[in-house]
Amino acid sequence: MIDDITRIGAEAPGRIAAASTLDELRAVEAELLGKKGELTALKKGIGALEPEPRRQAGLAMNEVRAAIDAAVAERRAALEAAERAVTLAAERLDLTEVVGGRERGSLHLVTQTWDRLVDVFTGMGFTVAEGPEVETDWYNFEALNIPAAHPARGMWDTLYVDLGDPETVLLRTHTSPVQIRVMTDGEPPIYAVMPGRVFRRDTADASHMPVFHQIEGLVVDKGISFADLAGTLESFTSAYFGGSIHSRLRPSYFPFTEPSAEYDINCLNCEGRGCRVCANTGWLELGGCGMVHPNVLRNVGLDPEDWTGFAFGFGLDRLALMRHGVDDIREMYTGDVRFLEQFPA
Ligand code: DAH
Repeated sequence: MIDDITRIGAEAPGRIAAASTLDELRAVEAELLGKKGELTALKKGIGALEPEPRRQAGLAMNEVRAAIDAAVAERRAALEAAERAVTLAAERLDLTEVVGGRERGSLHLVTQTWDRLVDVFTGMGFTVAEGPEVETDWYNFEALNIPAAHPARGMWDTLYVDLGDPETVLLRTHTSPVQIRVMTDGEPPIYAVMPGRVFRRDTADASHMPVFHQIEGLVVDKGISFADLAGTLESFTSAYFGGSIHSRLRPSYFPFTEPSAEYDINCLNCEGRGCRVCANTGWLELGGCGMVHPNVLRNVGLDPEDWTGFAFGFGLDRLALMRHGVDDIREMYTGDVRFLEQFPA
């Protein structure tokens, strides 16, 4: 009996070491220690022995079982480590990998448009500023000469944030609040453009998205006139769209400018002859502009007797759509690779 136990104990390390997977190890363990295993079979015979041989056999049995347990545990740890290493190697991601050719990503059309606009304006001597997307009522409305009960508030379908007193914190509905921040944070002369993301309570359709982008412009200096505004927009138009595209201004209304105007450019599709894209007018509407309202200057502590300025603001997504002849703004935000691939950069 003891010889059998000792023999099994002596063979066990070799058999355990030979198991090359966790499954094989489980099988070897069952053969040695399991209910139907070799040692269990011998154990049944121990009870029938005389007291002293029974004690001896019992001791040998316990020793061998303990040794086998330890060897199995050691082997299991080694096999688990090896399997983990294989999994890690298989699932490894090389974040520095450079994918060649067509699979290469590119900047989104909105980002490309943003970058180009900033390029053109910095080339004209403007600085670039950005402001927060969550604004207070003061920056988005009050300081821009749009008091609470003013009917002009209806021009912006506002998304309010549930913070502080009701309707005091909001997602900015335009980039115009950045004008206020630029004038509060710095001193004139100011020549700045302010691109950014804006939000409105709008249902998405071919020409609207609840989230879109604008670029704002602000000039405040001594003796700035409406002629400076018109000249600046005309220079920008030819720099951005090319020399065959011109601009015009039409009277309009915005609470923060007086006088205010609508800024149009020649239709990019027909260059002014009239076509489907411009509804045969030859013109496309780009955005709003005007002379900074004296109340706005006063709100930021500037004396309208000393300083005058102009401002403009237009939709960046709309501009990209017109430039590339895309007829549905939603295309910009579906993430469809077939659309995105058409604008590599
Ligand atoms: N903030 C206006 C809007 O979102 C656009 C605008 C109009 C901006 C006239 C201006 C401006 O700076 O002078 O509808």
